[in-house]
Amino acid sequence: MVPQFSGIHVAIIMDGNGRWAQARGMARPFGHRAGAQAVRRAVEAARRLGVGTLTLYAFSSDNWKRPGKEVSGLMRLFRAFLAGETARCVENGIRLQVVGRRDRLSMPLLRSIEAAEKATASCTEMRLRVAVDYSARDSLLGAAAMAEGKELSREDFSRLIAIMNHDPLPVRDVDLLIRTGGEQRVSDFLLWEIAYAELLFLPLMWPEFTGGELESALRQYSTRERRFGALLATAATAAAAAG
Ligand code: IPE
Ligand code: IPE
Ligand code: MG
Repeated sequence: MVPQFSGIHVAIIMDGNGRWAQARGMARPFGHRAGAQAVRRAVEAARRLGVGTLTLYAFSSDNWKRPGKEVSGLMRLFRAFLAGETARCVENGIRLQVVGRRDRLSMPLLRSIEAAEKATASCTEMRLRVAVDYSARDSLLGAAAMAEGKELSREDFSRLIAIMNHDPLPVRDVDLLIRTGGEQRVSDFLLWEIAYAELLFLPLMWPEFTGGELESALRQYSTRERRFGALLATAATAAAAAG
């Protein structure tokens, strides 16, 4: 455990599965299956390194535009992941939450999500949030509609976003956002929560991600000078104010 990372929020855009597979002469689903192994490694390392919240982008609302076969393969993989990982989450004190829309997911997947969330609900060592059918802009639109013109604090608005995402608790702002796969874009992920996040774009493809990569990302993060708009001497106070 590396104490300076205690409790931070790390978010990862897990990109590059398809290219990783194609570079090996394989079909894209092969990359998604290898990506699921990388998720296990990332979760294990995050827990070991003292990360408080890990949010993983697994399927964006725009990913429905992909061929039906790829989408249904991914949905099967999510179910298998939930079935296979829930017990390990409980053992390691990890609370699992799926964030995003739920109305377009199949009944069997919904049941697996609810079972995993229920089984891990009292775990407090780390929060693992898996974003499925997630769009930050849709969450923001939904939260704004719920606010109905009321004047809200940032904390109140974060609570509305949590409701939109089916997350029982609001989250702290993202401290470190990592994207694998070489693209340097956000692709509609956590637009509100990354206001002051440190950004790290890695050239490696998601199936190549290991616990050591996360550790090295966190070390890079720890060398960044976060100022939150203030001067360095007062940045800690400014960080608290930024949420
Ligand atoms: C990320 O990998 C996984 C999902 C978006 C579901 P991609 O499938 O986007 O892989 P590339 O970017 O095409 O290589
Ligand atoms: C972002 O990756 C979504 C996930 C990793 C789940 P995409 O591959 O969908 O993003 P774009 O299309 O390259 O922006
Ligand atoms: Mg991609």
